[in-house]
Amino acid sequence: MPDINQFTITQAVKDSFRTEPGSRFEKLLHGLIDHLHDYTREMNLTHEEWMGVLNFLYDCGQISTPERHEYILLSDVLGFSALVDMINTRGGATEGSNLGPFYLDNAPRMKLGADLGDGREGAKVLVHGKVTDILHKPLPGAVVDTWQADSSGTYPIQEQEHGQDKYDLRGIFTTDDEGRYYYTTVLPKPYTVPYDGPVGKLLRAGDRHAWRAAHLHYIVRAPGMRSITTEVFFENAEYIDADAVFGVRNSLVAKVKPAKDIEGLGFELDGKPDALIEYDFVLAPQG
Ligand code: BEZ
Ligand code: FE
Repeated sequence: MPDINQFTITQAVKDSFRTEPGSRFEKLLHGLIDHLHDYTREMNLTHEEWMGVLNFLYDCGQISTPERHEYILLSDVLGFSALVDMINTRGGATEGSNLGPFYLDNAPRMKLGADLGDGREGAKVLVHGKVTDILHKPLPGAVVDTWQADSSGTYPIQEQEHGQDKYDLRGIFTTDDEGRYYYTTVLPKPYTVPYDGPVGKLLRAGDRHAWRAAHLHYIVRAPGMRSITTEVFFENAEYIDADAVFGVRNSLVAKVKPAKDIEGLGFELDGKPDALIEYDFVLAPQG
């Protein structure tokens, strides 16, 4: 009988799985076991601490619903989601950032120049830019799928019982012959991630706030290119240095400029903006 003690148990657990040698699954599983056991030994974990972790995970499961995934939120506040985004960003391409829980498939298709804000309260901005490849060649026909909070920091999908349409403040644009996209909308405000559950408890235990810096969400796609999921933030905005889910990267921060230069851009717009934001998206080839 093998002598299983606190040092040999790690190998014994790995050996108990009959995984395909060298496979990705084996690497992921063995790595997880190694790190989990190392952590447990290093921390000299007590029974109370061990049970605390398991109960915390149980509570995350209990509060989760199809609309609220507390484990994703946990991943977000621990910087795990951001780390996966960073690792998977291709050289030269726009950096990835949080998808968040409010994405909807099948947002309405919009014509360039449309007003996503649709008469809502708030500062009206023109958002425009190009979609290019990593050599800065414009990509006509690229798809820019965007969604955002309103000027009070709420997503219309959160306000359906107050008569809001869940597809408000979202739309899909197709870039023109020069790879350009442009539309008007309202400037979103910061909002908090949900903090009435176990993840909120964790934030309070660590004296952390739950605020996200205001942002616009994007998924950008083009044939033959690797799509990106990202967010655009605003220079000098509140929480820009302390986003609760570590979504901000320098390269994703845009300037909000006064609208005086809009005429020169020659866009046909449904709305009249007070300010403008320019942001170019860069896609890397697939593969
Ligand atoms: C969001 O950006 O919509 C979001 C991201 C993480 C947690 C909650 C919301
Ligand atoms: Fe968001």
